[in-house]
Amino acid sequence: MTGHRIVVAGAVLDRDRLLLAQRRYPPDLAGLWELPGGKVEAGESPADALRRELREELGVTIAVGAALRESVALTRDLTLVALRARIECGTPHPAEHEALRWVDAPGLRLMHDSGRLVPADNVWVPELLGDLGG
Ligand code: CDP
Repeated sequence: MTGHRIVVAGAVLDRDRLLLAQRRYPPDLAGLWELPGGKVEAGESPADALRRELREELGVTIAVGAALRESVALTRDLTLVALRARIECGTPHPAEHEALRWVDAPGLRLMHDSGRLVPADNVWVPELLGDLGG
């Protein structure tokens, strides 16, 4: 498993809303919406990495909760997981994304059905709709 990396994404939930972030890169993903996150660095847990990434990317402090059930093999060497999170401190602003948007269950379903989510993130939609009461 040498060289195997985890990418951690945050399902940032606030009551009946989920935070989505619009990617700027790479070109094939630019404009699509994702659960924000990034690669876990050596010596970090996925929760540590998510706290760091969301501080850097959104300027918020989060409390990390339970993982979503599905993980996604992005490549042979890269696996994507998602952790639930709640903002403890700060208001999210997009330091690295094009834009941020809070969606409720119908909003998430619309983003999914219109193909505006990053492909890998589609796997989490049923479970997230459950969290959002949709
Ligand atoms: O910025 P960093 O390189 O740490 O991570 P990233 O570019 O945000 O994510 C690394 C890879 O995970 C990219 O290929 C993204 O497309 C993918 N990713 C994803 O599919 N869904 C997410 N919610 C977050 C990342």
